[in-house]
Amino acid sequence: MNTPLRQINLFADIANAYAEAPGGVLDNASLYAVVAEGMGTTKEALDARIPIGRAGVPRSTIKRKIRWYQQTLKQLGILEHVPGARGVWQLSEKAGKDLHRAATGVTLVAFNTDLGVAIWGAHQDVFRRFDEPIALCISSPPYPLRKARDYGGPNERRYVDFICAALEPIVRSLLPGGSIVLNLSGDIFESKKPSRSLYLERLVLALNDRLGLALMDRIPWVNYSKPPAPTYWACVNRVQLATAYEPLYWFTNDPDHVRADNRRVLEAHSAQHQRLMALGGEGRSVTYGNGAYRIRPDSFGRVTAGRIPRNVLERGHACSDTKAYRRQAQALGLPKHGAIQPTSIPDFFIRFLTEPGELVVDPFGGTVKTGLAAERLGRRWLVTEWMYEYLRGAAEMFTHFAGFQSAFG
Ligand SMILES: C[S@@+](CC[C@H](N)C(=O)[O-])C[C@H]1O[C@@H](n2cnc3c(N)ncnc32)[C@H](O)[C@@H]1O
Repeated sequence: MNTPLRQINLFADIANAYAEAPGGVLDNASLYAVVAEGMGTTKEALDARIPIGRAGVPRSTIKRKIRWYQQTLKQLGILEHVPGARGVWQLSEKAGKDLHRAATGVTLVAFNTDLGVAIWGAHQDVFRRFDEPIALCISSPPYPLRKARDYGGPNERRYVDFICAALEPIVRSLLPGGSIVLNLSGDIFESKKPSRSLYLERLVLALNDRLGLALMDRIPWVNYSKPPAPTYWACVNRVQLATAYEPLYWFTNDPDHVRADNRRVLEAHSAQHQRLMALGGEGRSVTYGNGAYRIRPDSFGRVTAGRIPRNVLERGHACSDTKAYRRQAQALGLPKHGAIQPTSIPDFFIRFLTEPGELVVDPFGGTVKTGLAAERLGRRWLVTEWMYEYLRGAAEMFTHFAGFQSAFG
């Protein structure tokens, strides 16, 4: 992928050493030892000194090199000094429990394959200088929850601006007829009331007014395995029903040329439909709705490749990729991600809205499920995620893909 964001692995090795140290804090002696081990260097080689500079002072070249990269990371704001401890540094911006957020302006390649790249950094730092044509942006941004998840999130008042700002540079690079799909929450309630917030309606209007996006559909992602919620209004107060769906909003910048094709997502015909096709049709004439709908003897008799999916996606949370991710994350001692999508959601939209080889992006990447679905479908992908630990776990899901390289060693 043609991106200016590739960096030398040693940056990431050093950032990694801090991220894996208890509390993200490390003194320099331990840093040298950890990085040298990762480089496959012996202690003797690490300590070996050779005369350097005009004065010929003997120094370890490896330690010098590590310090140089460490210094750059300090300047980038990734590392900060631990107050009162000489020579001890820590990853900056500890965010939430056991999470390390990339500091402003920092964008490092966490891992990549021949088709895609996962970047540790804030989406705004990546997409504002990005100019490759994007076919699809599919994302699940943080919801405006009253009690934010560990990875944080904006409140409801700021939400419309937050999403518009995130999408603005992406819309600028969107191919004509490209799509944006957002997985949002319909379960944001007015304060102390069982009535729902209208933030989604405000957001749709703002995306149309400010970014010129046309609404193609609101597709409910129906998931009967959701735990019963809203807890108070449905389970205690009992005035609401238990939620079974999240809305997926689908937008395009050019509805006349939208790059969707439902032939890429056809489903198997039902047994009944297959019977009708075999018989050559209904074999009867009926009229419904004052003539609006008519069944003719040959209706449903034409042999077609499959059933056009309904605009409701019924997908449970159970997902073998999520299970594999959790296993890897646990083995590496990483914190859990609180909002992982089943891969089947990005998989459906990537097939429906893009062609192989086109570029799919996800600014709020989490465990990089969008990248995983895109990779398997032969689409190029770019995912940003600002929490180091989520990418560390996600990298393990990509090791078998062609061209895999990881900053995590
Ligand atoms: C709802 S989660 C996405 C989950 C993802 N779809 C998955 O299946 O794993 C939202 C993610 O956005 C990340 N995030 C929030 N603000 C961000 C920003 N400014 N830049 C990059 N990532 C951000 C959070 O750390 C979180 O992992």
